[in-house]
Amino acid sequence: MTKNIIIIGSSGAIGSSFLKHYAEEDKNNIIYALSRSEAASPSSNIHNVSIDIESDSSISNASSICSEAGPFDIIIVTTGMLSDENISPEKSLRHLNKESLSKIFSVNTLGPALIAKYFIPLLKKDAPSFLGFLSARVGSISDNRIGGWYSYRASKAALNMIIKSLSIEVARNNPQSIVAGLHPGTVDSKLSKPFQGNVSEGKLFTPDYSVSKMAEVISNLKPENSGSCFAWDGEEIEF
Ligand SMILES: NC(=O)c1ccc[n+]([C@@H]2O[C@H](COP(=O)([O-])OP(=O)(O)OC[C@H]3O[C@@H](n4cnc5c(N)ncnc54)[C@H](OP(=O)(O)O)[C@@H]3O)[C@@H](O)[C@H]2O)c1
Repeated sequence: MTKNIIIIGSSGAIGSSFLKHYAEEDKNNIIYALSRSEAASPSSNIHNVSIDIESDSSISNASSICSEAGPFDIIIVTTGMLSDENISPEKSLRHLNKESLSKIFSVNTLGPALIAKYFIPLLKKDAPSFLGFLSARVGSISDNRIGGWYSYRASKAALNMIIKSLSIEVARNNPQSIVAGLHPGTVDSKLSKPFQGNVSEGKLFTPDYSVSKMAEVISNLKPENSGSCFAWDGEEIEF
């Protein structure tokens, strides 16, 4: 069955791979590819829309453009940030500062929350629907054994809480809906590049491998799984 799909963050390694996956899955799938930097269109069924997830008005404008199509079966939020030229994950408490905490929360938590506000109304209401957010295993509070990475860990833990609340609210209108976090494994991308040194042999996935596994997980999830976070291999990640 053909699907209407929105990929947010389609310029990223995982976002562009999701775009390719769903374009190849069925050439009649209608896909909206949202990013700051325009992605190449591998097929005529892909529509590029500009979005800056740190701007409320940009998120709202992008949802208005997408609302001309739809309703949508699948929306996946693949944006995220771990570091940049000025920000590094904090190894210790003394590295905390307000600017980097704010920036990481802005991209990883506030943006996805506002995306939910503007894009959930575009999801199908009387049929199965899926809203997914790329989270991360390091956002699991119970799994945190080595500490550090304060802002990234906390921003993803907060995202997980938002996912949980969304799942409850969305299910009131559509019991067939699923809202979930996704952990992609360690994937070769701009985001992971500076931190790949300690990854053991065979544990650094290509974006296409991770996405093929996550797409399988998505297609096997049921409404009773809504509100949780799942790894690339289907394992539920405890919050
Ligand atoms: N790679 C891993 O090992 C790994 C592990 C666990 C979780 N994750 C999560 O997976 C997700 C995707 O990561 P990735 O590995 O694919 O990284 P990536 O290639 O660096 O992609 C990140 C994406 O986020 C976008 N983005 C950042 N700030 C934005 C903003 N203000 N407005 C719009 N777009 C913005 C980037 O857009 P531009 O292209 O315009 O910069 C890019 O498309 C992230 O949420 C990450 O936390 C990744």
